[in-house]
Amino acid sequence: MVIAPSLLAADFGRFAHEAARADRSGAEWLHLDIMDGHFVPNISFGPEVVRVVRPHFSRVLDVHLMCGKPEILLEPFAKAGADRMTVHVELGAQVTPLLWKIRSLGKPVGLAVNPPTNIAEAKPYLAEIDLLLVMTVNPGFGGQAFIEECVPKVLQAAAWRKELGLDFRIEVDGGINNETAVECARAGADTFVSGTALFKKHNLRGAVDKMRALTMKASGELL
Ligand code: DX5
Ligand code: ZN
Repeated sequence: MVIAPSLLAADFGRFAHEAARADRSGAEWLHLDIMDGHFVPNISFGPEVVRVVRPHFSRVLDVHLMCGKPEILLEPFAKAGADRMTVHVELGAQVTPLLWKIRSLGKPVGLAVNPPTNIAEAKPYLAEIDLLLVMTVNPGFGGQAFIEECVPKVLQAAAWRKELGLDFRIEVDGGINNETAVECARAGADTFVSGTALFKKHNLRGAVDKMRALTMKASGELL
C-alpha cells in the first residue's frame, strides 16, 4: 500500500515545513496537484514549488498534472525533482506522445481518469502505464465529497489488470478518508491520495499509519 498525502491541503505559507512533516509521517509518496486554470477551474503551483519541497521529502514526489498542455511542463517538473508524473486521458490524441515523453524522461508513467469519463477510455493504454489514477472527485479543489459511482471503475481496472497480467498501480484521489479508502482498497486500489483527511490532522504520522493499516487489512477482503 502507498499512502500519498496531497500538498494541496497543506499550509501554503510553509511548503518546506509541510513536506518535512509528510516525510516524518512515513508516507511513501507526497502527491502534488498541478492545476493550470484551464483544464480545471483553479490554479495551484508549478515546478518552483516542487524544487522547494524536493530536499524536504526523501521518498517519491508524485506529480499529478491537471493541465491542458502538459507537454510544456514535463521537463521542468522532472528537472525540479518529480519522481513520477500523471497526465489525463481526457487529453485524447495528446495522450500517447505524453506517455512517451514521460517515459523518455526516465519517470514512471501515470494516466488519470475523471469521474465523468468512461474507464474504457483508459483501456488502450494499460500496457504502457505504471499507474492508473481513478479520480473520485471532479478535479480542481480539495475537500470535496467522494463520488461513490467511481468505485466500480476501480473494480473494473483491477479486473483488467488481472486479466491482462499487468502490474500498474491503481491510485484513487479525491474525498479519500479512512472509510472511503477502505472501500477503494476492497475494490482493488493500492495507492491512496488524501489531502484534507491527512494534512489537516495534527498527528499526520498517526493518520498515515492508520490509513495504511486499514487499507492493508481491507485489501485482504477484496470484493
Ligand atoms: C483534486 C486533487 C486531489 C486533492 C484531494 O483536484 O487532484 O489530489 O488534493 O484532496 P482531498 O483529499 O481533500 O479530497
Ligand atoms: Zn491529485
